[in-house]
Amino acid sequence: MFTQQQYAGTLQENYDLLCKQLDALLEGERNVMANLANASALLNQFLDRTNWVGFYVMDGEDELVLGPFQGLPACVRIALGKGVCGTAARDRQTQLVEDVHAFPGHIACDAASRSEVVVPIIVEDRVFGVLDIDSPELARFSEEDARGLEKFVRVLEKHLQ
Ligand code: SME
Repeated sequence: MFTQQQYAGTLQENYDLLCKQLDALLEGERNVMANLANASALLNQFLDRTNWVGFYVMDGEDELVLGPFQGLPACVRIALGKGVCGTAARDRQTQLVEDVHAFPGHIACDAASRSEVVVPIIVEDRVFGVLDIDSPELARFSEEDARGLEKFVRVLEKHLQ
């Protein structure tokens, strides 16, 4: 059973603790939907100043489809290369967007979103999907957040094999 933790260390220490919690939470379960759902819920407890935390997963070769998330209902399909999510999936690179209004082709699902970070999820050398996090604050996410979230996704990938 998961119990709410105090994340009282440095940001990096907190991300390291979060990664351990994720690893324990997903241990022994192989159902993809269940693991993504619990990963989004855990991350949503950990992060503050965010309004959307969740996943898009590849559906065929050219499109992402909405997966488990926490937040307002969101757009269902995103073509590869479109928006922040589609760009992260196409380029296999984390996208750290300080101001979504300045990102060409940003897809506004929740009008409150002002900054965003998207981390690609790679399983067996294929793009499985992306982790997408939105904030109503400009420049909410730092490079340190991006690195911490990449570690989180590396743990998740291990449980999606
Ligand atoms: N803003 C994303 C779309 C997904 S929503 O933020 C949940 C994008 O531009 O890809």
